[in-house]
This record gives sequence, C-alpha cells and structure tokens, in this order.
Amino acid sequence: MEPFRYHVFICDQEKPEGVPCCAARGSGKTLEALRREIAARGLMDSVQVTVCGSLGLCERGPNLVVYPEGIWYSNVAPQDVPEIVESHFQQGRPVARLANPDAAALFSEILTNRDRMLAAQRAKGASGALPDDLLQKMRAFQESRVILTALELDLFTAVGEGATAAQVAGQIGTNPRATEMLMNALTALGLLRKQDGAFRNAPVSARYFAEGSQDNARLAMMHTAHLWRRWSTLTECVRAGTSVTHQEAAQRGEDWTQAFIAAMHRNASERAPLVVAAVGTEGIARMLDVGGGSGAYSIAFAQANEKIQAEVFDLPAVVPIAQAHIRKAGLAERVRTREGDLRRGPFGNGYNLVFVSAICHMLSEEENRDLLQRCYRALAPAGRLVVQDFILEADKTAPKMAALFALNMLVGTVAGSSYSEDEYAAWLREAGLRDVRRVRLPGPSNLMIGSRK
Ligand SMILES: C[S@@+](CC[C@H](N)C(=O)[O-])C[C@H]1O[C@@H](n2cnc3c(N)ncnc32)[C@H](O)[C@@H]1O
Ligand code: FES
Repeated sequence: MEPFRYHVFICDQEKPEGVPCCAARGSGKTLEALRREIAARGLMDSVQVTVCGSLGLCERGPNLVVYPEGIWYSNVAPQDVPEIVESHFQQGRPVARLANPDAAALFSEILTNRDRMLAAQRAKGASGALPDDLLQKMRAFQESRVILTALELDLFTAVGEGATAAQVAGQIGTNPRATEMLMNALTALGLLRKQDGAFRNAPVSARYFAEGSQDNARLAMMHTAHLWRRWSTLTECVRAGTSVTHQEAAQRGEDWTQAFIAAMHRNASERAPLVVAAVGTEGIARMLDVGGGSGAYSIAFAQANEKIQAEVFDLPAVVPIAQAHIRKAGLAERVRTREGDLRRGPFGNGYNLVFVSAICHMLSEEENRDLLQRCYRALAPAGRLVVQDFILEADKTAPKMAALFALNMLVGTVAGSSYSEDEYAAWLREAGLRDVRRVRLPGPSNLMIGSRK
C-alpha cells in the first residue's frame, strides 16, 4: 500500500564529531530545500517526506531514498533539489546523475559501513569510554549558557540586519575578542550566520530574540536565564533539602517579576484554548483565577463566554501586569483583579469555577491541602475546582519534564515539588470535592477536576 505517489526518506543523522554523517555534510539544508520546493510546486499531498536515521552511506551524504521505485540518491546538495522534484516527482524521470545505479554495489557498501560502525562501537565500549549520549547530556549546559548569555546581552537585537563582532561589542559594551568567540559559537549552534567576517541573525533568532519582531520572546526567555542562577545551587539544595536562595515573591524585584509573568503569559496564551475547551464554559457566571498571573486564562474564559465574570487574584506586584493584558483584550468590565496572598485567608464564595493553574507545585503538601480547602469553600453549590499542573506518575520518575520541574521547585521554593495524580486526587477529596478526575491535555501539564455537589 502506498498512500502517497512518492515517499522520500531523507537521512538527517548526526554522529559524533569527526565521524562522517549526513548532518555534518549538510542534510539540514537539503531537507529545508526539499520541503520548500515540494510546497512551492503544490506537491505536499502527493510527496511525503520522512526524516530518518542513517541509511548506511554516511560518507556520501546527504542521502535520500524515494519509494515506490526505491531510487537511492547520494550527495544531494540543496541546489540539486529542484531538479529531483521537477524531473522525478513531476515528470516521473529519476535523476540519473545523482542516483546509485548498481543495487549490488550499494548493498555491499551499506554492509561494509555497518560492520565498520559495529566494530567501532565494540572497541569504544571495551575501552570504557563514556557513551556519547551521556557526554552530550552532561555538557548540554554549555549550549544553554551560550544562548542565555546572548539573550542577557540582547545580542540578537544588536546584530540587527547584520554586523561584525566589533560593531556588536561596541553597541552592547562587551569585549570584542570575547564577543567574536560567543558569536562564533552561536553560529555553530545555528542561531547566527557568518559570511566574510560579518554576522546575521538566523531566521529563528530574528523572529524570537530580536527587538522589533512581533514574536520576540526575549523577555519571557529571560526567566530561563534567571532560573540558571538558582539551578547552579542544586547541589547545596539537595544537601539542605530546600532552596538556599529563596526569596519571597514580593522581594524578587521588578526584572524577575516582569520576565516571570511574561514567560507564564506565553505559555498560558498557548494552552488557554485547550483548557477552555476541556473545562467548558457552560454554567459559569463567576470564575476565580487563583494566582492568575497575567490573566491569560481568565481572558480566554471570558472571551469564550460573554456571561462569565472573572477575577484574577495575585500579588500586588503582578496585578498591574494582569490589568494591562486585560485592558488590551478589551475585557476590563468583565475581568477584574484582586490583590492578595493565596497562602492565607478566605477567597470569598459563590464562584462556579475556581481555577488554580501552576500554583500547587510551589507549595508543600500541607499548604496544598489548606489551599484546596479554601478554594472549595469559595465554590457555589454546583461549582467546579480545576487544578492545572505537572502531574507525576505514581513512582514520580516520569514524565521527565515533571520530574525535572520538581527540582526547579527545590531550588526556587521552601517546600514546593511536582505531585502525582494520587496526591492531587486525595487532597481534592479531602477538601470535599466529588467526581474527582484527571483530564490529560497535550503538553506537559494536565488538569485535575472536582465538583462541589
Ligand atoms: C507559575 S505562575 C502561574 C500563573 C497562572 N496561573 C498561569 O497558569 O499562567 C504562579 C502565580 O502565582 C502568583 N503567586 C505566587 N505567590 C503568591 C501568593 N502568595 N499570593 C498570590 N499569588 C501568588 C505569582 O505571582 C504568579 O502569578
Ligand atoms: S548518516 Fe546518513 S547515511 Fe549514514
């Protein structure tokens, strides 16, 4: 069965430095050209492109195989792509100059390469060398640090339409030699392009990291740069059992708060339609958004149902940020704000929906029990309480993001963590909620929902 007229498998395998592979020979650019050309010629419904691992012709990459004929192309440069697409996919004539003509020779080359690769793996294993993927994980902080430093320095904005390292250094007040080293590394990571000594932003950096772009996420990503400092204390935190740098939210300073809420807002704006669809808006007249941050979820609920009046409850430093988002959405009449401390005091009563998103992880088990009880008391008789958070499997080792996030809470809070479905379900039932259930959504966090009957 072949649902597509042609199915292209293109190798984009990356191997350790110095080992021949398609990625090192430019398969990324060939793949980009292939996708672009197929789209430009309106062939997306008849030609399927699948990225695959090594095809066994690693010294002659980039390699691709086209089915149903089984034509193996090697050394395919981006400039060869239009010819393959036009001649092979549109006119049914494979490009002989790039195709491997002899199946027996191809078979023998692949087997020879496979045996060589297996022998190298055996030799490496016997030598006691660390596995490559383990080494890569251990050094991953270097790549992360390079990007975060560029963001801290606002380097991509300084590169603008193109600049030398010396020009960038002059603009951002850094050392020219060090700036060039940083920019060379950013080029190696694919975030800059370098030609004749001058640098340009790669499309992804121009879009997400440079001022003036409507998708500029630099402020939100500065939150990750701020987390770096906390994570560097992980060893001491594991010894101490708690954060060794913890500051109460109110004392963190404006830079921290602005970046934190910007990061939450990006994430929440993306997830809000999914959450609103999963929770539904029927029967909701009043909603309380506990620790509502930028107000993105309240805004989405209010936009989905004009009968909803929402209240974003957050710290005094955050409420003005929420108000700006609410005004921008034109919802100041129906989405109100309230300053307060979610760790204490009653929330009021009569809410049809109490929404607690990305809050429970910063609290201890006891604090969560207390919070959810106070949320329960704020509900109208048939109201629902919805918790959104990372939810761990019962043994707490998966999903990976939730397990890592538990450490994010260790380094940043007094007693926060990621929790399991059983823990959330128990707290919600203890608080008095019925019909407690988990709703899985795409992405790293899920919902726990309960009703006050
Ligand atoms: C991780 S953010 C989640 C924001 C929002 N609920 C969302 O899902 O995007 C945590 C929020 O809780 C707020 N917060 C933290 N401590 C608080 C406290 N003691 N009282 C009220 N809000 C608090 C923070 O200001 C922030 O807006
Ligand atoms: S890495 Fe592409 S064929 Fe081996």
